[in-house]
Amino acid sequence: MPTETTIDRLKNHVGQTVTLRGWVYNTRSSGKIAFVIVRDGTGLCQCVVEKSERTEPFFEEARRLTQESAVEVSGDVRADERAVGGCELQANDLRVVHAAVDYPITPKPHGIEYLMRHRHLWFRSQRQHTILRIRHTLVDAIRRYFNDNGFVLIDTPIFSPSAGEGTSTLFSVDYFGEPVYLAQTGQLYLESACMAHRKVYCFGPTFRAEKSKTRRHLTEFWMVEPEIAWARLDDVMDVAEDFVCFIVGRVLADHRADLESLGRDMGPLDRIAKPFVRISYDQAVEILHGQAARELLEKDLLEKQARVAELAARMAELEETQKTAQKKWQQEKAAQDLQAAREERSDLEEQVGNIPHHIQLAAGFEWGGDLGGSDETIISRLHDRPAFVHHYPKGCKAFYMRIDRANPRCVENFDMLAPEGFGEVIGGSAREEDYETLVARIAEDGLPREPYEWYLDLRRYGSVPHGGFGLGVERTLVWLCGLKHIRETIPYPRMMGKIYP
Ligand code: 4AD
Ligand code: MG
Repeated sequence: MPTETTIDRLKNHVGQTVTLRGWVYNTRSSGKIAFVIVRDGTGLCQCVVEKSERTEPFFEEARRLTQESAVEVSGDVRADERAVGGCELQANDLRVVHAAVDYPITPKPHGIEYLMRHRHLWFRSQRQHTILRIRHTLVDAIRRYFNDNGFVLIDTPIFSPSAGEGTSTLFSVDYFGEPVYLAQTGQLYLESACMAHRKVYCFGPTFRAEKSKTRRHLTEFWMVEPEIAWARLDDVMDVAEDFVCFIVGRVLADHRADLESLGRDMGPLDRIAKPFVRISYDQAVEILHGQAARELLEKDLLEKQARVAELAARMAELEETQKTAQKKWQQEKAAQDLQAAREERSDLEEQVGNIPHHIQLAAGFEWGGDLGGSDETIISRLHDRPAFVHHYPKGCKAFYMRIDRANPRCVENFDMLAPEGFGEVIGGSAREEDYETLVARIAEDGLPREPYEWYLDLRRYGSVPHGGFGLGVERTLVWLCGLKHIRETIPYPRMMGKIYP
């Protein structure tokens, strides 16, 4: 019996005979030779079946293999520079474990709605596989950072009697006849834990009833939140900065080739280093009103319009190829490129339509409001490192944020905006530690006091300055992988109007 191995380990078996177990990714064949690309979860490998006496029993079967059939292939491992993964298998035995009939996701182009409804199968595609592998590494790096830096993991509850982040995005569930909410954050519970353990973090699913469909919002997402007793706002930003450098460094170290395969421009990621930019909300407003912001958007508009025209010409060409090409693969390739061009154009047209509005929003931005998505984009595009925007007006932020004693119209908080227009990936703050001030803030926000009595206890018994932040895993992946939409960053995305499968 040949040794059983996996594709990622093939290079240790050059010259040996091994068995691979996997699924058929693709095939092509001629009368004398069949190429079967097998994927096994760890990689892709080309298995070559040459017609010979030895392969007689399965050569025809290999030629007829259908996409996603489960197979066991044995053969000799050959090093081949040109092969994906650097090796290929010269097959001398093949067994079909399960023949798949009409696998729904073919190499032909599919629309995004279709792919989303086949999410349970779509994961097997290379690109989805790559993104979820990067997610795995990111999650590992997040845990590693906190575990290695003296933070204690505290698992905070998901059923929650009160709002943590505003009442407009609460999911209500029936808890034995009493309405309770799915957690929007673990933070308030974490604050109690930091008074016991000093440095703590929680990491889990978080729920927000986001009633709009955007590229940045999920209704269920994963957030990691550290909380640190005795920390001031600057201390919290220092931790966020150090943490982000660590996780980006780890993802770059482990996934450079993967990121490149996703088409990610690596330059901006390679430039992520301390110190990050720190600007106040007031400075951010000045930027939005300034000339540079306007010029940036106007230049964008022209570039995007030019690209739309370019795509229109390209699409006409592709349509022609699709009709007239001699070979089936040429037609399929044209169809695929056409679909990609169509998607890009529809994206661009949407953006072109929005830019004039974004110019207006920025120019007319009034002090006091939260920065909108397009405002964040402008600020983050004007910096080539992550930017902390700090000290927002208190009216647009959560009740628990510490009032700035030097300027009580503002709170001691920050959002960290990823560069290149990706926008907010972290929100954080110092927490109000004064009992009377906090009671007043709860009342100002129109929140009932009773569910927060336990939280107020933290300000009755040994209250100290403290603070923390929350980083969204999926937002971070959108940035690191350079994606257009958040839906590919989580195995089963939950969004308004999307719950299947
Ligand atoms: O800014 P947010 O709302 O902050 C909090 O929840 C604080 N309690 C965190 C803390 O101080 N402990 O959310 C933090 C991050 C955002 O920056 C974003 O990355 C992510 O969570 N996030 C979302 N990600 C996907 N979909 C949504 N609907 C998200 N809402 C927030
Ligand atoms: Mg936020």
